[in-house]
Amino acid sequence: MIRKKNMLLGVNIDHVATVRQARGTSYPDPVEIALIAEENGADSITVHLREDRRHIQDHDVERLIRLVNTRVNLEMALNNEIIDLACSFKPSDCCLVPEKRQELTTEGGLDVLSQMDQLAQATERLKKSGIRVAYFVDPEPKQIESSQMAGAEVVELHTGTYADALSEKQQKYELNRIRECAVHGTKIGLTVHAGHGLHYENTVEIAAIREILELNIGHSIIAKSLDVGIAKAVSGMKKIIMDAR
Ligand code: PXP
Repeated sequence: MIRKKNMLLGVNIDHVATVRQARGTSYPDPVEIALIAEENGADSITVHLREDRRHIQDHDVERLIRLVNTRVNLEMALNNEIIDLACSFKPSDCCLVPEKRQELTTEGGLDVLSQMDQLAQATERLKKSGIRVAYFVDPEPKQIESSQMAGAEVVELHTGTYADALSEKQQKYELNRIRECAVHGTKIGLTVHAGHGLHYENTVEIAAIREILELNIGHSIIAKSLDVGIAKAVSGMKKIIMDAR
C-alpha cells in the first residue's frame, strides 16, 4: 500500500525583513519572497510580528494576508496590542510564542500552566475571529495537555534543543522526546507541528515522524537562498556595469 504523504512546509520569512530593515530600504520585499516560496512548495508562510518590530512590520502582515495564496501563520507573544492586530488582520493561523526583548530568536516554548487564564482568554478571542490557534511548546507531556486545556488546536513542538544538541546521545534523547510528544499530542486530539533550528542536515529525522503534520523552517532556508542565489546576483550586477561602458 502506498502511504499518502501528508507533511506540510511552513516557510518563515522573518529574515527577509531583517535584511530590509538593516538598511531601511523597500527591498527585499517579504511578500515577493513569500510568493516565490509558495510557487516552490511552501504550504504556508510564517512571520513573527515581534513587540519591537525588529523585522516584520504591521504592513507586511496586512499585505501577506491579502496576497498570499496558501495560509499565513502569524507568530506572536501573549500581548494584547498584537492580539488586537491579529483579530483585525485575521490570518488563517496564529502561533503563540514566548518573547523576550533581548533574545536573538525565540528561546524555549511557552510555559502554558503558569499563564493558563491569559492564554485561554487570548485563544478564545483569536478563535472567535476564525483563526486556528497553535502554542509553541517544549516537548513535554504536561505542556501539551495544558495547551489543550487552554483551547489550543495545534501544538508546535520546539525542536531547538534537538537542533542544538552537542552529542549524538543527546540528540537521540531529544528526538525521542519529540517523537513521544507527537504521538501523545495526536492521541489526545491535537494537531502536531514542529520547528525551530531545523536545517538541511537535521530535518530528515523530524520529518520522518508521521504524527508531525507541518514543519516551520526559516533561518536555514533564507541562509541557503544566499548560497544558491549569490552567483546570479553577482553576475547580474556585473552585466549592468559592463553594459554601461
Ligand atoms: N517556529 C517558531 C515558533 C519560531 O519562533 C521560529 C523562529 O521564528 C521558527 C519556528 C523557525 O525557526 P528557524 O528560523 O530556526 O527555522
